[in-house]
Amino acid sequence: MATNLKIDGDRLWRSLMEMAKIGATEKGGNCRLALSDLDREGRQLFIGWAQQAGCTIGVDRMGNIFARRAGRNDALPPVLTGSHLDTQPTGGRFDGVFGVLAGLEVVRSLNDAGFETEAPIEVVVWTNEEGSRFPPPMIGSGVFAGVFDLAYGLDRPDLEGKTIGQELARIGFAGDRPCGGRPVGAYFEAHIEQGPILEAEAKTVGVVTGAQGQRWYEITVTGQEAHAGPTPMTRRRDALVGAARMIDAVNRIGHDHAPYACATVGFAQVSPNSRNTIPGKVFFTVDFRHPADATLSAMDRVLRDDCARIAAASGLEVDVKEFWYFPPTPFDHDCVAAVRGAAAGAGYPHMDIISGAGHDAVYMARVAPTAMVFVPCENGISHNEVENARPEDLAAGCDVLLQAIVARANAPVR
Ligand code: GLV
Ligand code: MN
Ligand code: MN
Repeated sequence: MATNLKIDGDRLWRSLMEMAKIGATEKGGNCRLALSDLDREGRQLFIGWAQQAGCTIGVDRMGNIFARRAGRNDALPPVLTGSHLDTQPTGGRFDGVFGVLAGLEVVRSLNDAGFETEAPIEVVVWTNEEGSRFPPPMIGSGVFAGVFDLAYGLDRPDLEGKTIGQELARIGFAGDRPCGGRPVGAYFEAHIEQGPILEAEAKTVGVVTGAQGQRWYEITVTGQEAHAGPTPMTRRRDALVGAARMIDAVNRIGHDHAPYACATVGFAQVSPNSRNTIPGKVFFTVDFRHPADATLSAMDRVLRDDCARIAAASGLEVDVKEFWYFPPTPFDHDCVAAVRGAAAGAGYPHMDIISGAGHDAVYMARVAPTAMVFVPCENGISHNEVENARPEDLAAGCDVLLQAIVARANAPVR
């Protein structure tokens, strides 16, 4: 352990609060949707800080930003660390931002100490991690890791039909570097837990051993539009009533696969959405998560059966399309051990934990040894403007990140 190294928790907190001014919401959170003008502002603020810290900046064709601190042997594959600056529509100040600014704080602290690492370090800002404006999530890291091809990434549309490629060009972040296809020595990502476990267990640091799998669906229910007055109840093919029963089924599938399953419908569109017309079409999304792939598959079967049964009983048609999937993803044994060793070495109360959320680390784990550092957040609440974390916990997580990065950058696997 590089015992003389210490991060500056106050500087990290000040940077977080400065970034949080961009897209600040009334309830104290952030709305900085991917590739919006506010996202551009956040990106520019980060780039300015990284340049002041002596980093060179590169932007790839997916708009991912890499701020590089040279290594003693600059030809070695870099150790990457970072996360995302985009937020949910009613997002918080820490989801993603902590990982980016913790990476920057690592670089600043190494500079303060005049500490050179063997391998270079790059702090990365991934494009569109949230997938709220442009589904699916983790698209920048997904293209980097070769999970999606570049054309798929650039073509993802928002609800208005604007694509990632168009919006990258508009905000000046359509970079010229190839996306991915280069060796990465290791990837570390710091993040708030976004769940209640660390707080409940009174642990400061979560040593993330992997992430649970996810299956996302797009479901379209089709019935028949008809007049709300003259059409008797017995003659209706009401797509919204069918969708409501299916949404209830989704919720029940989550409960039936307790304690680890999660099942959410977070997006729905009713057509024509007119008060006195029986809805003819409903589009909604499903987000299933579970740490075991076999259970995710079982949930998939129940979902398809339930939707077909409900549609048949209501005279409706239903199309269940799987939209996105990644399996449960274990992280790299040695990188996880580096995080655990750093937490233990500094005396922080810590525990192993599985990530309930998706993270860019999930895709990076396919192309580089990867691990994550979690810190608690207040009441386990995230994707909410009230999302909160304690400065001392964030500082501890950043400190662990620093030690894990230095351990790896100074003992590169050649
Ligand atoms: C990312 O925010 C997720 O949905 O897990
Ligand atoms: Mn996040
Ligand atoms: Mn998020």
